[in-house]
Amino acid sequence: METLKNRIQGLRDQFAQAAPQVLDQAALQELRNLYLSRKKGHLTQLFELMKGLAPEQKPAAGQEVNSFKQYVQSELDRLEKELQAPSRSGPSVDLTLPGRASYWGAPHPVLLIKERIEQIFLRMGFSIEDGPEMETDFYNFEALNFPPHHPARDDWDTLYIDDDLLLRTHTSPVQIRVMEKKKPPIRMINPGKVFRKETPDPTHLPMFFQVEGLVVDHGITFAHLKGTLEYFLKALYHDSIKIRFRPSFFPFTEPSAEVDIGCTVCNGEEDDCRVCKGTGWLEILGAGMVDPQVFKNVNIDPEKYSGFAFGMGVERTAMFSFQIPDLRYFYENDLRFIRQFSKK
Ligand code: PHE
Repeated sequence: METLKNRIQGLRDQFAQAAPQVLDQAALQELRNLYLSRKKGHLTQLFELMKGLAPEQKPAAGQEVNSFKQYVQSELDRLEKELQAPSRSGPSVDLTLPGRASYWGAPHPVLLIKERIEQIFLRMGFSIEDGPEMETDFYNFEALNFPPHHPARDDWDTLYIDDDLLLRTHTSPVQIRVMEKKKPPIRMINPGKVFRKETPDPTHLPMFFQVEGLVVDHGITFAHLKGTLEYFLKALYHDSIKIRFRPSFFPFTEPSAEVDIGCTVCNGEEDDCRVCKGTGWLEILGAGMVDPQVFKNVNIDPEKYSGFAFGMGVERTAMFSFQIPDLRYFYENDLRFIRQFSKK
């Protein structure tokens, strides 16, 4: 009995799907045969199926099958009438009415680049980690080897909430949080928002996105750092992108480097290029080997393990990819700006 009911339900669904596709007499006839043909029609088969049921089940089954048959017949009649009605042959919409504009959104360019960055690192076997946007002094500075007098702690660039809490000024505190939680080997990136006490101008924003990266394992060297970042930058831009490493300083990496790429706008060929200011180079990341003191702060033995870290600004990367002259455009929420970057 249950099988019969299921069969009927299945056939009813199929019929309901097929009916709207009947646009001419031939299709109608085909549908009619499929269900009502005396030899192999679905209904004939249902009546066959009924024969095998116990006598006491037959009346109920008969009702089910008959009501389905009535449904099919009345639907076929309705389709027949519709096919004959004039509305099918003439347009049912008033083509002289003005159209309605449809408004659609678009992925934000910063999100597009963030996802592209994530995809490249996922391919290299990195995990994606998360961390809080409000941090303690310990995670944002102390554990990262910033001495108390370090200029980066100055209120000029940090938004303090109270004596101990602040809006993180970089994503590097996530390095500490991940190393506290996980044992090496670690290969992670962390995309997230960071905050600085800045007045917005073409190259500064008080809130922006960074992507942090951290690799910790036995025998990690500067060659791994270089190879990983070169692979990443080639995948993000193109194979023949020029890359250079310059010595730099961060309290939590030693040695440290800043990484530049050849200007994506003028290719180093224009003295008055607005993006690279004629230098031919764009600074794209900070990086370095994890300072042994940072490992000690999270109880990882620097004699056994080594690692590298890097951090990049996502808006800057998007600026270079899409050749956007002013960072403030990203957060003005003008749909005309945002819609330009996705391939729709
Ligand atoms: N956190 C640094 C910044 O905000 C970037 C960085 C990350 C440098 C990791 C080295 C290693 O500028």
